Amino acid sequence: MNLQLAVGPRREDGFHNLVNVFHAVSLFDEITVREARPRRGRPDSGVVAGLTAGGDLGSHLARVPLNSSNLAAGAAALLAKETGRGAPVEIHLAKSIPVAGGMAGGSADAAAALVACDRLWGTGLSRAELLRLAAELGSDVAFPLVGGTAVGLGRGELLTPMDSPGRYRWVFALSPHGLSTGAVFAEYDRLRPDAPEPEPSAPLREALAAGDARALGAALANDLQEAALSLLPELGRTLEAGRAAGALGALVSGSGPTCAFLVGGGSEDRETVSGREAAVVAALEASGLCEQIVSADGDVPGTVFV
Ligand code: C5P
Repeated sequence: MNLQLAVGPRREDGFHNLVNVFHAVSLFDEITVREARPRRGRPDSGVVAGLTAGGDLGSHLARVPLNSSNLAAGAAALLAKETGRGAPVEIHLAKSIPVAGGMAGGSADAAAALVACDRLWGTGLSRAELLRLAAELGSDVAFPLVGGTAVGLGRGELLTPMDSPGRYRWVFALSPHGLSTGAVFAEYDRLRPDAPEPEPSAPLREALAAGDARALGAALANDLQEAALSLLPELGRTLEAGRAAGALGALVSGSGPTCAFLVGGGSEDRETVSGREAAVVAALEASGLCEQIVSADGDVPGTVFV
């Protein structure tokens, strides 16, 4: 998810300069990559011979593209092209991260597929080379390789880790609807034709360094939120339901429509945090606006090989 997403004007290449403070939370997809079974007599359809998805994500699962447009398949294809390796593979995505939800789930899958194919094929790329390929795949693919809390500049891919000793508890409201990242950026351009260059937030940096949950809640900011709400107005009611129930901060994650609620952490005691969490979850359930409500901790490490 993002703690700050400041968006500049549209660039010549169609992208936007960002100050994107990424925060890795404990919602994980599990990616399995294995050598494809030989398929005699059938032409090979490229390096990805099969792509399947599973998991308990309700209607979200139906949104996972099971073809070459899936970023995980793109990651395998790019690695094969760059290294000249690439025995055909089958990829399975066990999903827990919302799909088309603004949580960079597809990007996390791509990062994991890169790492897994690198191991399987023995390409042995350096970390710097993997990060370069990740950035080529998408603006948010490098961050899952790094994890923790990091600020991304440029398109979001130029990463620097941030000083963030605290651990926080989050509640996420999954929407029954999906939002396209490109469509939300286009709506942002329409609403903010004169957007200034994005600036890092000093209050956010200070709140993270101090491990102060209340200050962190007050510093959360997402320039794409207005555009996401313009496309899906009910998100405003979702955010309000969580705020009214005592969340320390509430915002749309990335390009949405997943909404994130900070319910505590840092130096706060466990009971305070779990009491707030229960109240926010109950209010979101009662709102009838959410497809699913999940809790997670942040920050956590990025892609791990198991
Ligand atoms: O890089 P990625 O493929 O994730 O971007 C998806 C879309 O989001 C882009 O096609 C573009 O419309 C928008 N985007 C942007 N500026 C960024 C990152 C993404 O406009 N920095």
